[in-house]
Amino acid sequence: MAQSDKEKFFQGLNIILDVSNIEVVYNEVILVLKGLSLQVPEGKIVTLLGSNGAGKSTTLKSISGLLKSEDGEVTDGKIEFNKQEIKNSYAEEIVRQGIFQVMEGRRIFKELTVDENLTAGSYIRKDSSSNIKADREHVYELFPALKRRINMRAGYLSGGEQQMLAIGRALMAKPRLLMLDEPSLGLAPLLVREIFETIKQINKEGTTILLVEQNANLALSVADYGYIMESGKVVLDGPAEILKNNDDVKEFYLGFSEGGDKKSYKNVKHYKRRKRWLS
Ligand SMILES: Nc1ncnc2c1ncn2[C@@H]1O[C@H](COP(=O)(O)OP(=O)(O)O)[C@@H](O)[C@H]1O
Ligand SMILES: [Mg+2]
Repeated sequence: MAQSDKEKFFQGLNIILDVSNIEVVYNEVILVLKGLSLQVPEGKIVTLLGSNGAGKSTTLKSISGLLKSEDGEVTDGKIEFNKQEIKNSYAEEIVRQGIFQVMEGRRIFKELTVDENLTAGSYIRKDSSSNIKADREHVYELFPALKRRINMRAGYLSGGEQQMLAIGRALMAKPRLLMLDEPSLGLAPLLVREIFETIKQINKEGTTILLVEQNANLALSVADYGYIMESGKVVLDGPAEILKNNDDVKEFYLGFSEGGDKKSYKNVKHYKRRKRWLS
């Protein structure tokens, strides 16, 4: 990736989240992130891609403070939000600063109704109840399916509706930075497209987004900038448009490498390319 493409992209943008060279250790021994760096400019959608086990969720949890509840710790590097160090701060403090993570697997309160879940999302706000009510109405505009289920217990919603509710609940906290961990996971393609359209809309309305995905094609279609990680480190990054057309990315992550006879040759090429990235 030409350095100038990156520089051009970041020029004049305000870096709202600056993660620099972090190391993360679980249970005091398992080193999972090994010098990971990424930057999120205000107002953009940045995607973090990588295969299963690369460390994407760990990265988000390091930022949101949710690592602590899994006996994980950021042992090195810095995490600045809005120019302030937030590394190893408490999750609730980080929410107050304006970062909200929607965890993988749609964590919602299953016993509460849809409406109650949304109300719960606003707990940190000191706004007037009329402002909060207006924001709740806005969530129902973004996700009309939720409005139709307003008094239903969340546990009875479909997978897609639960994902919408998880995002809606996050919006109720009015975050400046919304972090989404694999929102497409386990959902039918049509629904995924709908949710991604809404993610774009949320961004247009002013929320910065850090989107973790295994589905690179989908993520790069909505993101402005992408980072690709492997084994706890970023191996490639660049503007989404450029990544989409990058041969390595196409082969590894966009699934264009399928096909009969040349398979073993391609495997060798894979191996070479992989080495090139990692060197
Ligand atoms: N709570 C934990 N304790 C120990 N190891 C963990 C924990 N969570 C994740 N890991 C390990 O960290 C690595 C990265 O996991 P994760 O961040 O979930 O990757 P991804 O989200 O990219 O699939 C994996 O090898 C995983 O087994
Ligand atoms: Mg994950």
